[in-house]
Amino acid sequence: MSGTKRKAEAEMVGATCTDLRKMQKEDGVALMKVFNQVASAAKNTERVLELFKAQQGLNIGFPVDCYTHGLQSATRALRDGRDEETVVVALLHDIGECWSSINHGEIAASILRPYIGPENYWILMHHEIFQAYIYQGGFELKDIDALRNQFKDSPYFDACHQFCYKYDAPSFDPDYETLPLEHFVPMVHRIFNRKPYETSGCLNDSLLNRAKAGMAEAYPPPGEVESA
Ligand SMILES: [Fe+2]
Ligand SMILES: [Fe+2]
Repeated sequence: MSGTKRKAEAEMVGATCTDLRKMQKEDGVALMKVFNQVASAAKNTERVLELFKAQQGLNIGFPVDCYTHGLQSATRALRDGRDEETVVVALLHDIGECWSSINHGEIAASILRPYIGPENYWILMHHEIFQAYIYQGGFELKDIDALRNQFKDSPYFDACHQFCYKYDAPSFDPDYETLPLEHFVPMVHRIFNRKPYETSGCLNDSLLNRAKAGMAEAYPPPGEVESA
């Protein structure tokens, strides 16, 4: 998003209300007209892509930067014939790597939560532990097998290992023919354009998902707000 566009958005004011505790119907209608333009699915997706692009030049010590690592993981998933959702998950899996390294998978998992199924969500949430199992020899890590095996009963255990072993772990190779971001942009837009919590089938995974989906349903549809 250009600086001019962002400035124009920053200057848009809908509601004159300054305290949510005092909101009236007219404030809600005025606010939603702006909100639906600024925080549309397409624009939110652009912002996620900006986060991904910010990983260019971010190098944690491997021969490729975090940006190329994401692209290469997605390229491997795509060439392995995986579905679009998994390819996008591979692309964005480390988007939070240098925000909170110890639990960075949870950052991508949370951003993608309404748009992906339970298996990919579980993979994102747990992948750091499964990666440590794979690279443990490099650091002589202690007790990693036992840490990982605590999750042995999960139906997603093998899928998480496969994701890490086939797409994540080998994707630090500067000589691999990695596809450019442009190749994946339409896929990212399609995934974030899904009906939140419903298309991906994660609605009934938790009370929280059902509540958030219900909250979204509680708002008037955008068309109704525009004509008010
Ligand atoms: Fe990771
Ligand atoms: Fe990774």
